[in-house]
Amino acid sequence: MFGFNLVLLQRFFVKVMEIVKTVAELQAKLSAVREKGQKVGFVPTMGALHNGHLSLVKRCVSENDVCVVSVFVNPTQFNDKNDLLKYPRTVDADVKLLESAGCAYAFIPEVSEIYPQEDTRIFDFGTVDKVMEGKYRPGHFNGVAQVVSRLFDIVAPDRAYFGEKDFQQIAVIRAMVAQLGYDIEIVACPIVREADGLALSSRNTRLSENQRNLAVKISETLFKSRTFASQNSVADTISFVTDTLNNVPELRVEYFEIVDGNTLQSIRSWDDTTYPVGCITVYCGEVRLIDNIKY
Ligand code: PAF
Repeated sequence: MFGFNLVLLQRFFVKVMEIVKTVAELQAKLSAVREKGQKVGFVPTMGALHNGHLSLVKRCVSENDVCVVSVFVNPTQFNDKNDLLKYPRTVDADVKLLESAGCAYAFIPEVSEIYPQEDTRIFDFGTVDKVMEGKYRPGHFNGVAQVVSRLFDIVAPDRAYFGEKDFQQIAVIRAMVAQLGYDIEIVACPIVREADGLALSSRNTRLSENQRNLAVKISETLFKSRTFASQNSVADTISFVTDTLNNVPELRVEYFEIVDGNTLQSIRSWDDTTYPVGCITVYCGEVRLIDNIKY
């Protein structure tokens, strides 16, 4: 009897998250939200959710009337098809986590729903999409811009939330918002780390136990480089990080660049910017991990 009353109470008072699979259904629900003058916050994800994603969702829930989260592994942003095949997919667990974080609508579309026709758009965001990830993953940011613009058109949020682990991605999204004229506030949220410092990433689940123990050297070295940087040049700081990590078994630095945090152009002297950020990509075995640090 008591249990039955609890179920009834939940039904009437707790807003249960809805799973939406089609654009038409989501837009119908969101137009009802907007008719009430409510603000919509949006967190785009590729699923395999962890506490980093949940920090974005919780912030979105706290700052908007309605929080929409998309779970969509976007094929157009994978320049390596093997990486796409291996990308972890954990939809059932994702749904439970989103519900517990207070998400109102989990948008989980099929590829045909996002791309009814092939998206042939080619973007050019000037300098921000050409360096670092743009150089090593050709086509990656074009695919990100395709899917995020498509999702922005569908959801039309007031605010959208992105994690700073993908530091360059945020710069690209801001450039896209300016170029395409979206009236959407982009909210950058801090990196969430494991207790030992490793930046949370869906790719961490692909590390063996030994690799996971070695991967912590990435954040450890970045943190140490802050002290090093305070007494050394930009070039020496780059060598310090790169050499330290390349000496760890299983780790191979793809690039480490110290850039201006707004333009993403490399700096040569600490005096070149008031906003220096070190951005790194390291292979741990076959798993590609990224991280960054503000100096
Ligand atoms: O950061 C990600 O998970 C993806 O690049 C994004 C923004 C969800 C687009 O697919």
